[in-house]
Amino acid sequence: MPLVKLSELLNDVTDNTYAVGSFNVSNMEMAMGAVQAAEELNAPLILQIAEGRLKYSPLEILGPMMVAAARQAKVPTAVHLDHGFTLETIQLALDVGFTSVMFDGSKYSLKENIEKTKAVKALASRYGADVEGEIGRVGGAEGDYKSVDILLTSVAEAVQFAEETGVDALAIAIGTAHGNYKEQPKLNIERLKEIAAVVKCPLVLHGGTGLTDADFKNCLANGIKKINIATASYDHIAKRVKLLLKTKPEANYFDLSHETVAAACENIEHHMLIFGLKDKA
Ligand code: 13P
Repeated sequence: MPLVKLSELLNDVTDNTYAVGSFNVSNMEMAMGAVQAAEELNAPLILQIAEGRLKYSPLEILGPMMVAAARQAKVPTAVHLDHGFTLETIQLALDVGFTSVMFDGSKYSLKENIEKTKAVKALASRYGADVEGEIGRVGGAEGDYKSVDILLTSVAEAVQFAEETGVDALAIAIGTAHGNYKEQPKLNIERLKEIAAVVKCPLVLHGGTGLTDADFKNCLANGIKKINIATASYDHIAKRVKLLLKTKPEANYFDLSHETVAAACENIEHHMLIFGLKDKA
């Protein structure tokens, strides 16, 4: 199955019965675990890495590996740059063959965010790649960046942003935040419904870690088509590797590598089942 574009996967979601999971990976083992999960469930997959994590996993090295993993996968797999902030990183992601990039201009004014996102869209279209934008502001911190407060997406701004930039996917803020929640978040499903009623491009939910199964189902039933999961995978892998070292102190490097693949796969399968992805490849 070929490497596919983000829009191919998201535009397939027409009946609000499922959403495509987009899973952050930081090494070969996580990418292998994600592909294994998707193949076992016969589910479409998005592999992504955020600019904030590149100091641990340089894009020049991990990027081609992600593209290779997608090309080898037996299910349709898109490769996406998550939270791109600089044109240099976005250009590099496109050069190594990512099929989509996110430009996160949420810290700018609406006007500047639109201008910068349009420039990214023009660059990406030269590669035949898709673009995800963000309007409003998802809270918390992605990677090593400073934590930011949630700024709920305004319906009028979402419409204007989507129309003027022509983005292929739009991340909105409806009460979620990146990382582990200190208290259970309250999602603004009414706002999601209002945005989904008037914005034509697929909507993206960031900050998936820590939401309940009911939250996920409520979001996808009301118009979310892409759901991002990062922290839950990192935490689950760390937990299983620590447990392995406790129960099998003689574990060698390859045991740890194998555990990482298995833990990534387990967490991703868990989320794919909640997102209704079984047999949606
Ligand atoms: P979590 O780390 O909260 O799962 O968020 C993932 C995300 O939205 C990546 O952009």
